[in-house]
Amino acid sequence: MIVVISFHFQFQIHNRITMNLDTKDASPVEVDVQKYPTAQKLLKRCQDFFDEIENLTPGAALESYLNASYGPSNPIYRDLCALTLQGLKEGWVANFPIDGEKYRRSKICLPKPETRFFSVTTVYMESKEEYAGQYHSHPYGEINCVVQIDEGAELMGMQGWQGAGWTSPGAGTHHYPQVRGGALIALFFLPAGRISYKAKPGDPQPVAL
Ligand SMILES: [Fe+2]
Repeated sequence: MIVVISFHFQFQIHNRITMNLDTKDASPVEVDVQKYPTAQKLLKRCQDFFDEIENLTPGAALESYLNASYGPSNPIYRDLCALTLQGLKEGWVANFPIDGEKYRRSKICLPKPETRFFSVTTVYMESKEEYAGQYHSHPYGEINCVVQIDEGAELMGMQGWQGAGWTSPGAGTHHYPQVRGGALIALFFLPAGRISYKAKPGDPQPVAL
C-alpha cells in the first residue's frame, strides 16, 4: 500500500514538472529506458559527454569548440549518432508527430543528477526545402548534436547552417528550428531542461548569441 501511494505521488509530481518544462509537448514524459538497451547505451554516452563539457557555457564559443573537438572523427560524437540512428530504427527516437511524419519528437531523459541536470531530447526533421518547426527560446542555452540521416541535411543554428557537428545557441536566444537538404535528428541537451514557447520572432535577442 505504501508503494502504491508513493508511486501515485511521484507520478503527479512528474507530470507537473513536465508541463512546466514544455507545455506544447504532448509526448510521454520520458522514453522507458529500461525497455531499450540501446537507449541505456545512448544515455551512458551522453553522460560521458556531460562529464567533459558540463562546466562550459552554451554559445558561439562552445559551438566552435565542439565542432573543432567533438566533430565527426570524435568517438563520442560517432557513438551519439550511431545510437540515435539505431534508436530511430527501434522506434523510440523522435516517435511522436508534431507536424506529421516530417517533424517528430521524443524526450529521452528529463534533467537529473545522472545527466548533470541536462535534459536529453530527440527531434526528427525532414525537408529538402527550408522547413521551420516551433518557435522557442532557451533561457539557459542549448547544445545540439546534429545527427545526419541524409548526407546533405543541415540544421540552422544562431551562427548559420550546420551539417554533421554541433550548434549551441546561447542563453536567452530564440529561433525556429530549421532544416534543409534532407532528414536529420537533432539530439539536444538543455541545461535544467529549460525551454519556452512564449518568445516571438522579432523579440530582441540577447547580446551574445
Ligand atoms: Fe533551439
